[in-house]
Amino acid sequence: MKAVVFTGKGGLEVVEVREVEAPRPSRGEVLVRVKAAGMNRADLLQRRGLYPPPRGTREDIPGLELCGEVEALGEGVTAWKPGDRVMAIAAGEAQAELAVVHERLLLRVPEGLSWEEAGAIPEAFMTAHDALFTLGGLRPGWPVLVHAAGSGVATAAIQLVKAAGATAIGTSRTADKLEKARALGLDHGILVGKEEPRFADDVKKQSGGKGAAVILDFVGAPYAAENLAALAPGGTVVVIGTMGGPRATVDLGLLMRARGRIIGTVLRPRPLEDKIAATQAFARDVLPLFAGGKLRPVVDAALPLARAREAHDRMDRNDTFGKLLLCP
Ligand SMILES: NC(=O)c1ccc[n+]([C@@H]2O[C@H](COP(=O)([O-])OP(=O)(O)OC[C@H]3O[C@@H](n4cnc5c(N)ncnc54)[C@H](OP(=O)(O)O)[C@@H]3O)[C@@H](O)[C@H]2O)c1
Repeated sequence: MKAVVFTGKGGLEVVEVREVEAPRPSRGEVLVRVKAAGMNRADLLQRRGLYPPPRGTREDIPGLELCGEVEALGEGVTAWKPGDRVMAIAAGEAQAELAVVHERLLLRVPEGLSWEEAGAIPEAFMTAHDALFTLGGLRPGWPVLVHAAGSGVATAAIQLVKAAGATAIGTSRTADKLEKARALGLDHGILVGKEEPRFADDVKKQSGGKGAAVILDFVGAPYAAENLAALAPGGTVVVIGTMGGPRATVDLGLLMRARGRIIGTVLRPRPLEDKIAATQAFARDVLPLFAGGKLRPVVDAALPLARAREAHDRMDRNDTFGKLLLCP
């Protein structure tokens, strides 16, 4: 089968598409013929050798999520049959013609969605759902601050915030992304500069002086101090990424006075049972909203697998809005 392969650790020059041996499903696993596999920031880190995948997963074949058709079943699988339309967060190796996923991590593709739409769902919407509701405890009416408003995870989060009857405030360094995010329901966009980003005063103003009850942060160090200044009493900062760097100096007095929490999260290294629980909560609470049209996957572009290098280049340049997909 064909797969995206990193021929070494480094820049775009290590991204190729090659013939590799197809995987075989072990007990409890399902072999999926991949129709679309989302690109993620983690792929860029893995390309540079900075994001080792879990044990047993090839480091040279990227891909954290997929949608496709069930091709074959490993021993003991009873919940699925060949031809079923499925999607999932995978341990890795998803940017390939065939990939294996544990049967209990698979989700059924909602009625009426194309392969491209389904491919844009798993990582973005599951991460956002887990961060907002399971970790952030989001309630209707709460003001929520979502950084990097044009990122895959943020475009999902904004829609989930609105579907929950809460208020979505977003930041971006790109005005055009804030404009596009408004069409997804963003109530208030804040354009932040690359040097000394400021947003706390604006967040306070937009939330009637309270601040944000939940903050989804992907940027890390450069936003850490402003996040604490923007936090509502009892609020939660969920750290999902550190695109701007991981080491920050902050005023912990602000955290104490807000009686706030800072929670960090990652999905991929969690124990299988935790990932199954997150998948089941997502299937119950979120999947029905796609069929009803209340949520829509945001696809920046769907490129053939052969254009994987171009996909890396676009993400490296922060050139995307929503999800970039590779289609075998
Ligand atoms: N913890 C988890 O389980 C988990 C799961 C999924 C994703 N993530 C993380 O979540 C983040 C978003 O992922 P994604 O795939 O949705 O990203 P994405 O679609 O590639 O979007 C990233 C956007 O963030 C902005 N950005 C990049 N570097 C920045 C910086 N230094 N400061 C401020 N803004 C910056 C850029 O938009 P602008 O034009 O606004 O600059 C860029 O387009 C990544 O850090 C990723 O690793 C974590």
